[in-house]
Amino acid sequence: MRRKLFTLIALLTFASFILAACGGTATQTPAAPTAASGAAAPTAAAAMAPTAAAAMAPTAAAAMAPTAAAAMAPTAAAAMAPTAAGAAPAAGGALAVGIVLPTKDETRWTQDEARFKEALDKAGYQVEILFSEKDSAKEKANVESLITKGIKVLILTPVDGTAAASTAAAARAAGVKVISYDRLIRDTDAVDYYVTFDSLAVGAQQAQYLVDKAGSAKGQPLYLYAGAASDNNAFIFFQGAWNVLQPKIADGTFVIKNSSEAIALQSKMELTRDEQAKIIAQVTTDWAPATAKTLAESNLTTATAADKGNVFILAPNDDTARAIGDTFAADKDVKTFLITGQDAAPASVQYIIDGKQSMTVFKDVRTLVADSISAAVALLQDKAPTAKGSYNNGKVDVPAIQSPVVTVDKANVKAALFDSGYYKTSDYTGL
Ligand code: BGC
Repeated sequence: MRRKLFTLIALLTFASFILAACGGTATQTPAAPTAASGAAAPTAAAAMAPTAAAAMAPTAAAAMAPTAAAAMAPTAAAAMAPTAAGAAPAAGGALAVGIVLPTKDETRWTQDEARFKEALDKAGYQVEILFSEKDSAKEKANVESLITKGIKVLILTPVDGTAAASTAAAARAAGVKVISYDRLIRDTDAVDYYVTFDSLAVGAQQAQYLVDKAGSAKGQPLYLYAGAASDNNAFIFFQGAWNVLQPKIADGTFVIKNSSEAIALQSKMELTRDEQAKIIAQVTTDWAPATAKTLAESNLTTATAADKGNVFILAPNDDTARAIGDTFAADKDVKTFLITGQDAAPASVQYIIDGKQSMTVFKDVRTLVADSISAAVALLQDKAPTAKGSYNNGKVDVPAIQSPVVTVDKANVKAALFDSGYYKTSDYTGL
């Protein structure tokens, strides 16, 4: 107990030191979610905004998570270094870790693959990375093959959070530690650790962008879209967005045009998971651009000219935002549209530069990669990875670490993604 208290005090002290260094003020009381709309980097306040972890398991440590995680995020190389992780396994060989990602068809996961390779190469480790082709059966087969090859730690992004429970249980039964990567594996106690972004802030920043641009005029058309219902993140993103949008729907600023379930629930701020599921079922893109396009086309066919004009679109991520945006752009009754996204996917970064997508939420995958490699190294040494809060997965509270996210639009795209060295200007036009 005394040790826990000491650790907490140390964390708070460290976080306030970092905040002081950044000119911010540390506080244990989470502020209302605020978007860093147009800002080059999240403000201290935005970084302290309530997080999914805080919302689900409010502890001082969870509330401190974004800043501390960002400030302490080691580089991948540092994470592997003996000093950062105790007596880390010797570099230059195979690490008893396997990585299973959901699909190569969604831009996000090819970015994670590239960043994992970059970090592992730098540290001199060989680690197998497999893709599940959006198929839970393939995911299970991937994990089983890695178990047979002798992995001791599994880093898994599930295709379907609930379906992955039995896969995680199989890993646990084989003595393998399980790290849930970005997406939470649900309804099982066979998850040792969760490495993620502040997904509640992702949704909140998307919604805040729309709210800020809408101003005070009433009756503005709003179209809602969501991720795949099999992905726990889709719920957290939607929850984060709803928290910010709902008061603006209730006061008449926005009028929802494409979901009778959302309209039926529009006076309710706190939605249950079942209520969220009802809305998501009507507006899901399944994370697939083709599905997103078909849905947007059908929404626009049903809508009247009066439901169009200057529209606001909550799109859940970049790949679907481009598909939805192109569909709205092709409708003669849509005069202008503002559309959200997330991931800073290269094609969407070009869309933002070209004025075809309004914003994205940048999630620095390098941090997530470094955190999961650190966690894997700790677990290989039978140590508990550093946790800054927890997420309830329907069965247990999974110790977690989460990273902050940043709103990027045309105004700060250069500073946030190019001056920082994340992307190369030579790969883009019109900068
Ligand atoms: C990730 C997003 C990604 C989406 C579709 C989510 O779980 O958090 O970054 O865009 O899946 O791949």
